[in-house]
Amino acid sequence: MPMATSTVNSIAVLTGAGISAESGVPTFRGKDGLWRNYRAEDLATPGAFRRDPRLVWEWYDWRRGLIGACEPNAAHHTLAEMESHFDEFSLITQNVDGLHNLAGSRAVLELHGNIWGLRCTAGCRPTWEDRTVPLATIPPRCPSCGALARPDVVWFGESLPSGVLDAAFSAARTCEVMLVIGTSALVNPAASLPLVALQRGAYVVEFNPQPTPLSDLADEIVRQPAAEALPGWWHAWQSEG
Ligand code: OAD
Repeated sequence: MPMATSTVNSIAVLTGAGISAESGVPTFRGKDGLWRNYRAEDLATPGAFRRDPRLVWEWYDWRRGLIGACEPNAAHHTLAEMESHFDEFSLITQNVDGLHNLAGSRAVLELHGNIWGLRCTAGCRPTWEDRTVPLATIPPRCPSCGALARPDVVWFGESLPSGVLDAAFSAARTCEVMLVIGTSALVNPAASLPLVALQRGAYVVEFNPQPTPLSDLADEIVRQPAAEALPGWWHAWQSEG
């Protein structure tokens, strides 16, 4: 356990696909992970979209259908509850599923965008949200100028939104405790956030049923599924005052 909750002002949380696994959202690298059955370079790169926007959109439409049927789980709800207990609470996620928002978390730093968002490839207007499943037309078009629309997510080879990334690194540098939940800790720059927190002396807890490159460095490891473990862990930490 970290120092008593009453003495902690600043906490950061980094989540990955594993936090949504118990909600039914597929992870990327596990046994049934998306990258076992699909090649990322065929579906999640700007080149793939240029080559075949319909194929890319069909894949996103399928994922939107899967995610749309999922509910936040006890781990998402616990994080939403934790937020009000600390002066500074930064929830940084690599997930595009929007389940943290649905659970009631405010101000989520979505490093890789959101699968419900769309963006005009001609850049004529701000991004917009469309939760229609299945989409009315594939590929969808910009309602303002008619250009192709793309998912408002970050693909391999693209930069992360700079404001969000800056806020995430700032939280990693200043937090006293960081929880790292359900990420393989392999994809940068997200994977370097816990390393920054450790360098700055934060107490880092990993929640993951499997070992990761972070496991040897973390101060505490909880080797259980997040929705099972996090509510009890939070309760135990709170009872320590
Ligand atoms: P991964 O699929 O790489 O890793 C999921 C992690 O969750 C693994 O370490 C699992 O052991 C763990 N896990 C599985 N079930 C869990 C559970 N119930 N509770 C806790 N942990 C569990 O997913 P990410 O680390 O999120 O990027 O992947 C990072 C990025 O790579 C994604 O955002 C995506 C992907 O390619 C882009 O699309 C840009």
